[in-house]
Amino acid sequence: MQKRLARKLDLELLLSKTAPHPTPSPSLEQYTIPAETAAMMLYIAAYSNQNIVGKKVLDLGCGTGRLAIGAALLGAREVVGVDIDRTAVKIAAVNAAKLGAEKVQWVVTDIDAIAGQFDTVLQNPPFGVQKRGVDQRFLEKALQVGTVVYSLHKSICRDSKIFEALKKHKNEAIPAQPSPFLEAFIEAHGGRIWAVYKMAMSIPHMFAFHTKKKHVFLVDLYVIHK
Ligand SMILES: C[S@@+](CC[C@H](N)C(=O)[O-])C[C@H]1O[C@@H](n2cnc3c(N)ncnc32)[C@H](O)[C@@H]1O
Repeated sequence: MQKRLARKLDLELLLSKTAPHPTPSPSLEQYTIPAETAAMMLYIAAYSNQNIVGKKVLDLGCGTGRLAIGAALLGAREVVGVDIDRTAVKIAAVNAAKLGAEKVQWVVTDIDAIAGQFDTVLQNPPFGVQKRGVDQRFLEKALQVGTVVYSLHKSICRDSKIFEALKKHKNEAIPAQPSPFLEAFIEAHGGRIWAVYKMAMSIPHMFAFHTKKKHVFLVDLYVIHK
């Protein structure tokens, strides 16, 4: 137990050293996943479910690379990181070299162009706040090319007690119910929800329209099998 915790904290520390995007675009929702959320997601995938070590992993919408780099550092066999934004991918490659994750293959393209089969897809997609439905496009693609999918989505939970508790314990994830809409969407695209974990996510002030120094909200991590 202690060993596992130490490894998760080590991973979090390493991922916190990645350089951010210098000019993130609001329309692409280029928020970097917090290191603690990335480590939690990777840790669940690697050690609760054995979906990283020795696996072929795809990071869809990789941004500056935290999920892909983390998967490589945890022992994935092959890792591909894909993003539509050239600058993000350039920084991801520099981050990977700095952290010793040279095995990641970085690709600049729209997710629509991705084909092939991957054991595991990791994604922190745009939540569809700027462009409605983009999160569903990511889910659809992930289910086309992945056997198991780890996908982060904005939670619809309005329970203030749960929110306050998870806000205090940012390194915790609790089992949760799927949103009926996403559940129906996933099933219609050949997926079956294996688990949902709820956790708090915190993003700093990044864009002019942000009014707070940081924004904390709940996200759901969907683990989906095809
Ligand atoms: C919320 S950010 C997440 C970035 C990174 N995965 C992370 O968690 O730090 C979403 C990413 O998806 C990328 N993206 C948006 N639309 C895309 C598309 N159609 N094809 C490929 N990447 C896209 C954005 O450029 C952005 O880097």
